[in-house]
Amino acid sequence: MHATPIIAPSMLKCDYANMQQEIERLEAAGTRWLHWDVMDGHFVPNLSYGAMVIRSIRSRTTSFFDAHLMISDPATYLDDYLQAGCDAITFHIEAVPEPTDLLHRIRSAGRLAGLAINPGTPISAIEPFLPDCNLILIMSVQPGFGGQKFMPEVLEKARLLKPKLAPGTLLSIDGGIAADTIASAAAAGCQVFVAGSAIFDEADYTSAVQNLERLAGRVD
Ligand code: DX5
Ligand code: ZN
Repeated sequence: MHATPIIAPSMLKCDYANMQQEIERLEAAGTRWLHWDVMDGHFVPNLSYGAMVIRSIRSRTTSFFDAHLMISDPATYLDDYLQAGCDAITFHIEAVPEPTDLLHRIRSAGRLAGLAINPGTPISAIEPFLPDCNLILIMSVQPGFGGQKFMPEVLEKARLLKPKLAPGTLLSIDGGIAADTIASAAAAGCQVFVAGSAIFDEADYTSAVQNLERLAGRVD
């Protein structure tokens, strides 16, 4: 269903005054996913955007919308993100320690259900729920801000999780993914690579995306 590796640009780092133009540049560069970082100023110490912004851009692109909810109460707001047209909705195990019902709500709406795990959280916290997940998002920085340094110690979690995932479950990694880190994440079993600074800080999105795809092992 999803040809991998997938480069998912983190829209946290885009130019908000020109979001539509940014998306056109990304699609011209070959990306097919957009990663929407939603922050509530409570689960993480930063605020970004919410369902209204995502919804307003939905009709302008056919890209896959990968929502990453860094919010304390995703159950209350889930319907907003479903109605906004998110294709995958990922929330944090640290916010919802018993996530089964919420994962089922997302899947029964026909979307991909994801669980995210912070650097300090052991994989034992999510293991019981893996069969209910379509996507696992391993955080390789403390969530809240773009432009942070990649934490290589989280790759062990990817290595341990990979053989426990059902075929088709996507393993994603988010934070500090760049030309000097993406190959190690791919070698650890990751297939979706969220990248903010490594794309948006570059003048040429096409060469940035193609370079990341090549380093992640894309076979043409
Ligand atoms: C961090 C976000 C990331 C971040 C990635 O809380 O979840 O998606 O914006 O940005 P870079 O690639 O700059 O680390
Ligand atoms: Zn993210």
